[in-house]
Amino acid sequence: MREMVAVLDFGSQYAQLIARRIRELGVYCEIVEHDITAKEISRISPKALVLSGGPASVLDEHHPEMDPDILTLNIPVLGICYGMQHITQVLQGTIEKGRGGEYGHATIDIDNSKGFFADLGHSMDVWMSHGDQVIGLPRDFALLAHTSDCPIAAMGDLKRQIYGVQFHPEVVHTPRGHELLKNFLYSICKCSGGWSMAGFVEDSVSTIRSKVGDANVICGLSGGVDSAVVAALINKAIGDQMTAIFVDNGLLRAGEVEEIEHIFTNEYPLNLDIVDARQMFLNALKGITEPELKRKAIGRTFIDVFYNEADRIGGATFLAQGTLYPDVIESRSAKGGPSATIKSHHNVGGLPPDLKFELIEPLKELFKDEVRLLGKELGLPENLVNRQPFPGPGLAVRILGEVTAENLKILQQADLRVKEELRNYPGYSDIWQSFAVLLPVKTVGVMGDERTYANVVALRIVSSMDGMTADWVKVPYEYLARISSRIINEVKGVNRVVYDISSKPPSTIEWE
Ligand code: XMP
Repeated sequence: MREMVAVLDFGSQYAQLIARRIRELGVYCEIVEHDITAKEISRISPKALVLSGGPASVLDEHHPEMDPDILTLNIPVLGICYGMQHITQVLQGTIEKGRGGEYGHATIDIDNSKGFFADLGHSMDVWMSHGDQVIGLPRDFALLAHTSDCPIAAMGDLKRQIYGVQFHPEVVHTPRGHELLKNFLYSICKCSGGWSMAGFVEDSVSTIRSKVGDANVICGLSGGVDSAVVAALINKAIGDQMTAIFVDNGLLRAGEVEEIEHIFTNEYPLNLDIVDARQMFLNALKGITEPELKRKAIGRTFIDVFYNEADRIGGATFLAQGTLYPDVIESRSAKGGPSATIKSHHNVGGLPPDLKFELIEPLKELFKDEVRLLGKELGLPENLVNRQPFPGPGLAVRILGEVTAENLKILQQADLRVKEELRNYPGYSDIWQSFAVLLPVKTVGVMGDERTYANVVALRIVSSMDGMTADWVKVPYEYLARISSRIINEVKGVNRVVYDISSKPPSTIEWE
């Protein structure tokens, strides 16, 4: 069985970050529900458990709880923040309700610099973010670190190997946090490490081969990184048994069809099928203005195209998709139920219940940055691997209101100007996504001596770690000015450009 660590998610915004840090240290890690049973934990047999932080208070009447038997399984445990408080509660230590809490930088004094804190000296800068705190150790626990405000900043039962930290070792503001996690994984839990992309490729290739046998697989290429990496991985496993279908749905950015054709014919040749389905998508979108209905119509049309193509190649059993780990996690919540649907990202929830294909989702365990590493490992060209994410429904969710051939042309042309101008911006590599949005709003303008009455384009330029949160980028005015003037002067049908200065949350990255 593969060596793994499980993170019990108590609703922390950092649960994914904890999993990433552990993987970066060479150990495979998965996030599980906080109320997973001890029996289930025994079945998956992790080398260690990490209990995440969370927004609740263990002193509230209703708060997320773990199965207490988990602490009797002889598996090393690390509780972080809420996780530490919950361990304390289960093992009958004392917790004090927050008196204003502690947020931000702190320096801990290390009381025991062996084992858990080995090689970290006598003090360490950490990031605190808590209201409640532990003031009385559970039985058999030792004090490992404290601060002037927090009498028990770290604790451990060294025999049972149960540890707790009040601070967050997973965030960058705890500069030596990764060394602490490394001590926990390697000195305490005796992990052997070795999780790497090369190993992942090998494992995936053999899993795909045994799953697929001699059946045919179709793989939808969207032009984005994820589906390209899926196609490359499956191509490595089964070669021409896979047909990569690139659907020209007319909702793509300018020049994209040619670019993808070039890459997968010349640079990374694979069995490529480009389908011109522009009219089919326009028909399906006719008259629809509501965002969720647009997404559903697009999802259905994609599936229709896939059915047609599967028939054309003499039948396919499997459909491959680029679902990522955050997509899987985002559709669960710390309370165990599905989280609210903000948008039905069609590669997660939008497939018909009676889908005639079996799904293959080889990236389901990976984060976006890991997918890029995998793409490089597979030898995909840099410009493809480092592409900005692009939504499956394409420009349809960037045209507010009805999608028409005319609107698509306007948006493609505006978007191209954004791309061309930002390419020269030195901070380009820090941008997560940059694009134009066509608003269903007309405003009055003046060009030459003529009055114009034309559309507004909004610019959306954001930075983000993983698309879950985002901030608008403070792009220097001269770039914004050039983009604006080029769009207004060169794109017929637009006479005003505005800049979107909203962060996510509360806004989302896409406008629909
Ligand atoms: P939002 O707009 O929800 O987007 O903040 C977060 C990230 O997801 C992308 N996105 C999608 N990707 N199908 C996709 O494959 C979709 O329906 C979809 N909607 C949004 C978006 O571009 C951003 O990177």
